Amino acid sequence: MLDFHKISWEEFKKISLEKKVLYFNRDNNIFDVLFSQQFDRVLLDQLYNLTNTIRKLSKSEEGRHFLANLLPHHRAMLYFVQPSTRTFLSFASACQILGMHVSDVRSVETSSEVKGESFVDTIRTISSFFDLVVMRYPEPGYAELAAFELNRTNRPIPVINAGSGKDQHPTQALLDIYTLRRSFEEIDHGDLKNKTIMMVGDLKRGRTVRSLSQLLTNFKDIRIIFSSPPEFAIEKDIVNFLEKNNISVLETHDFEKHLPEADAIYMTRVQNEYKTENISDDKLNIEQFALTPQNLHLLKKNAVILHPLPRRHEISLEIDQDPRAVYWRQVRNGMWTRTALLATVLNVADKINQFQL
Ligand code: NCD
Repeated sequence: MLDFHKISWEEFKKISLEKKVLYFNRDNNIFDVLFSQQFDRVLLDQLYNLTNTIRKLSKSEEGRHFLANLLPHHRAMLYFVQPSTRTFLSFASACQILGMHVSDVRSVETSSEVKGESFVDTIRTISSFFDLVVMRYPEPGYAELAAFELNRTNRPIPVINAGSGKDQHPTQALLDIYTLRRSFEEIDHGDLKNKTIMMVGDLKRGRTVRSLSQLLTNFKDIRIIFSSPPEFAIEKDIVNFLEKNNISVLETHDFEKHLPEADAIYMTRVQNEYKTENISDDKLNIEQFALTPQNLHLLKKNAVILHPLPRRHEISLEIDQDPRAVYWRQVRNGMWTRTALLATVLNVADKINQFQL
C-alpha cells in the first residue's frame, strides 16, 4: 500500500486518478474537491437531494436561521487570482448561508507571491488562518498541489477547485448537472436517462465543458453532441474518456444541423484569454455558433438552454424571455449547489437532513 505522506509531488503526479482520489477523501467523505472524477452517482444523488433541502429551508426564517448557525466559527478564504464574478459571489454567498466568515485574495499582485514567496508557502500561510480554501487559478494543477501539500501538514483544510486553467471546473459541473436534473424532474425524476446534450462553442479551451462531460458519465444512455468550429474541437482525452464510459459522442462543425436532436443545449463563449498556437480568434467564424431568434425554432419545445456565463454574442438577448432559457436560474442554482457541497465537505449534511421545520 502506497504511503501518500512519504512520496514527493513529482511521484504523486504520476499516480492514476483512481488511486489519487483516496488521498483527497477523509473518513469516507469527500474532503478536497479537485476534479469531476471524484463524484460517483451516490454522491451526486446525495448532493442533489441536499441542494433541494437547503433551497426549501431557505424559504423560511426558521430554516435560514438554522442554516446560518451551522458553521458560525468557520472562516473561508476565497483565493481567486483569475477573474470571476459568479463563482466568487456564489461561493461567498454559500459560505454566508452556512454562517461562515469570508475573506478573499483576488490578485497575486496583493499577495506575497509577488515578493517571491512560493505558491506552496502562500497556501500554507492561508491554512494557518482559515478552515477552508476555495481556489481559482489560471493554470491547471495548483489546487491539487495545494491539497497535496496541506494533507501532509498537521492542520489540513479542505481545498475546493473553483476553476483551474483550461482543465477543470468541478463545482460548475455540479451546478450544471443540478440544473439539468431540475429541468427534467417532471419527466424522469431528474434521472437524465436517454438525454441528448449538445455542447457548443470553444470546446477546446472551455474547462466547464470538460468537467461537465466527465460528470455526465454517471448517468445512463446519455448522448453528447459537440458542436464547434474545427479549431475549437473538444480534446481527444475527453472523447476517449466518454467512449470508455459508454457515452455516445458525435462531433460536428455544423451548428444548426443537429440542433433539433438536443434535449439540452450548453452554450459557451470563446476563451481567448488562453492564447493557443495556430488559432487567430478574429479569423474564426464563431458567429455561426450562436442561438438567435432565427434558429431558435429548430430546438425542441421542451428542450432547455444552459450557459455557464459570462456570455458574449452566442445567445441573443431576446432569448432570455424564452421559457427554455434556464441560464439565469442556473446562476442561482450555483449558490445552492455550493452550499450543499460545503455542508458535505464540512460534515454538517446529516444535521441538515435531520432538521424538521
Ligand atoms: C466559466 C469559467 O470560469 O470557466 N465561468 C463561470 O465560472 N461561470 C465559463 C467562462 O468563463 O466562460
